[in-house]
Amino acid sequence: MKIIDGKALAQKIKNDVKKHIFENYIAKVKKAPCLVCIIVGEDKASKVYVNSKRRACEECGIGSQIYQLPEDTSKNYLIDFLQKLNNDDNVSGILVQLPLPKELDKYRNEIINTISPEKDVDCLTYQNLGKMYSGEHLIAPCTSTGIIKIIENENYNLDGKDVVVVGRSLLVGKSVATLLQGKNATVTACHSHTQNLKDKCQKADVLVVAVGKSKMITKDYIKNGAFVVDVGINRTEDGLVGDVDFDNVKDSCSYITPVPGGVGPLTVACLMENTVLLHENRLKLQKNCETEMDIDN
Ligand code: GUN
Repeated sequence: MKIIDGKALAQKIKNDVKKHIFENYIAKVKKAPCLVCIIVGEDKASKVYVNSKRRACEECGIGSQIYQLPEDTSKNYLIDFLQKLNNDDNVSGILVQLPLPKELDKYRNEIINTISPEKDVDCLTYQNLGKMYSGEHLIAPCTSTGIIKIIENENYNLDGKDVVVVGRSLLVGKSVATLLQGKNATVTACHSHTQNLKDKCQKADVLVVAVGKSKMITKDYIKNGAFVVDVGINRTEDGLVGDVDFDNVKDSCSYITPVPGGVGPLTVACLMENTVLLHENRLKLQKNCETEMDIDN
């Protein structure tokens, strides 16, 4: 059994981003990409996550701006705010940290889809999700990208494997299921209404769990030798724990991601990559547009 070191893999990705930023921006005295994170309200976990995103930007040489908006921010204010960021040429990526406060969450889709797809680093706008479902994507949601990187970093071949994903959120479950299908895995997408969940999980060569229920997956859910990816981060009296009962399950699997130190660090590292990818894609689009204007003239 191997315990995956998500921190080490994330560090390797961030080091590559840092090197890229140094060589292509700092050394050439060019303005580096810039990520904007918005938190609305006082969710403690969100503040911790956004702080780690800010630190990662600093580490990689990416600019960052954090906006902390009050809990009672109106939908119109937030939409107006996002439109200004869309129009700001210095902004490469925009991220609205989820969850939103209850009042605003009713308008979550409208809010997220105000972000220009060219700056949507989370890959949550309809346009970017559509591209992902069509297999034409430049980026994918950060956590789902991180999960694929974790599996591929072990040289584990997903082709033809039976994968069970538990959880159907847009941020993780739905998108990771799509990416896994893109790797030719056979994916079973399970959720809170799934019948005989245990039986289905027992057939999984790879089990990805993203439901937010502490230690719900015990060894009776695990096929011997499975690759287990735990996406849950649950704050309990025992500290941070995953959706998988790690101590109970670990001897039954061939690979397992711990919590903390598994998938979490990859989310942040992939966000750095997405920011650079979107920045450079926008520069390319602007350049193409200028060339077309030259031709027209
Ligand atoms: N909340 C938890 N994870 C994420 C994430 O990856 N992106 C955003 N925007 N909110 C989150």
